[in-house]
Amino acid sequence: MNMEDLKTKLAASERIAVLTGAGISSESGIPTFRGEGGLWETFRAEDLATPEAFARDPAFVWRWYEMRREYCQKAQPNAGHCALARLESSASEVRIFTQNVDGLHQRAGSAAVVELHGNLFTGRCTVCGRIKKGLDSPLAQIPPWCPGCGGLLRPDVLWFGEHYDAAILEEALQFLRRSNVVLIVGTSAAVSVPAQLAQEAMQYGAFSIEVNPQETMLSAWVDCHLSGNAGEVLPKLV
Ligand code: OAD
Repeated sequence: MNMEDLKTKLAASERIAVLTGAGISSESGIPTFRGEGGLWETFRAEDLATPEAFARDPAFVWRWYEMRREYCQKAQPNAGHCALARLESSASEVRIFTQNVDGLHQRAGSAAVVELHGNLFTGRCTVCGRIKKGLDSPLAQIPPWCPGCGGLLRPDVLWFGEHYDAAILEEALQFLRRSNVVLIVGTSAAVSVPAQLAQEAMQYGAFSIEVNPQETMLSAWVDCHLSGNAGEVLPKLV
């Protein structure tokens, strides 16, 4: 299918599900996780992104998230994020399921965003579960205390060994199963739950388009693999 056919297909779709990963933010200067320059090439996930690591050394873990908050805050949404925000203002019902925690989809103007892995700028009390938004101002060098119960706040992100929110997953599945198109952008699909969400949409008959400069585990299964950067391909598609 050529780009014109794909555009027509998107325009004619009632419901479009978008699954995004770190690759969509790489043109905003935010590192991905895997591959050259990826966070998991430099840092050990087990020291930084597990409940055990936070229990062992909360300040150390907090500082790593603080570093990420700092560069995500400075980053700007790119042409890929903006194209997806424009897609939402078309006639189709569009929902973005993102693995990213950087908030760039929302800053680009997308409203229907489901954050599967949480958000860097939100804290959650480790004792009472209270949510504290807006960790960007002021930036804190040590984990703050919960204003409600005095417990320690942790980043409200999904860590290794933790479960996805069951209600969010169920709602995601309901949307994906009814989608006419699933657009998979900038994810290696190495994490099984998000990859399964995309596969579920495909199994239920959604036409699948992958945007990625590299092949992934999903490439062999999608209807159309568009090889290229999200910031270049998405504006042409939308
Ligand atoms: P990865 O780092 O695993 O994969 C990034 C993907 O983006 C790769 O397939 C790249 O080829 C692609 N890519 C790079 N630049 C791109 C660009 N400009 N346009 C489009 N694609 C590009 O990141 P994710 O798949 O998001 O989870 O990783 C999934 C999860 O693994 C993350 O949410 C994180 C990590 O562990 C948690 O921390 C819970």
